[in-house]
Amino acid sequence: MTTLETERLLLRMWEPGDFEAYAAMSAEPEVMRFLSHDGKPLSRFEAWRSFAAQVGHWKLRGFGMFAVVEPTSGDLVGRIGPWQPEGWPDFEIGWTLGGKYWGRGYATEAVKACITYSFTELRRSHLISIIDPDNIRSIRVAERVGEQLEGTVALPHLPNRTLLQYGLYRQD
Ligand SMILES: CC(C)(COP(=O)(O)OP(=O)(O)OC[C@H]1O[C@@H](n2cnc3c(N)ncnc32)[C@H](O)[C@@H]1OP(=O)(O)O)[C@@H](O)C(=O)NCCC(=O)NCCS
Repeated sequence: MTTLETERLLLRMWEPGDFEAYAAMSAEPEVMRFLSHDGKPLSRFEAWRSFAAQVGHWKLRGFGMFAVVEPTSGDLVGRIGPWQPEGWPDFEIGWTLGGKYWGRGYATEAVKACITYSFTELRRSHLISIIDPDNIRSIRVAERVGEQLEGTVALPHLPNRTLLQYGLYRQD
């Protein structure tokens, strides 16, 4: 059971009770704009499939995106962490927050903890983040955590979209 703590956040394993908040976040058009294959929010069924993929990724790979919660309220604020499903170009750190939690520095704070975890616990030497060129907020997160633009890339489920690959190497 891997748990990470930051100044304001707890990054923990997924629990069945997280689904309602996960489905609500997945139903927000602004949240899903650059994430879903058609740029549209997810139905409850699609959110369930996505939620199950988060849980399954941990089981199959031994790592995955964390449920990010506010320790005091216990509220789920988003999903952040390592992600490398079948066909993915490389080991990625991904980040998504519910709209209510944007603009607080939560993503940058949690991503930094995940980078340290990936370099130290998972012993990765390089990680990437794949970002739509129009996703300015996400590009800012990549830059704030020290990632640099490495080129362009496509994803298995978005073969016709040219996405940016940001990345970071471990400094030994
Ligand atoms: C990408 C995403 C996670 C970025 O969220 P965000 O809130 O902009 O990023 P952070 O959590 O790092 O917060 C940074 C902002 O909080 C502000 N902030 C407020 N209080 C802060 C604090 N205590 N510490 C740090 N920053 C703080 C910063 O000034 C910054 O605002 P600015 O960008 O307007 O200058 C969010 O927009 C999102 O979930 N988008 C939808 C999903 C998505 O597209 N994911 C990425 C796929 S590649």
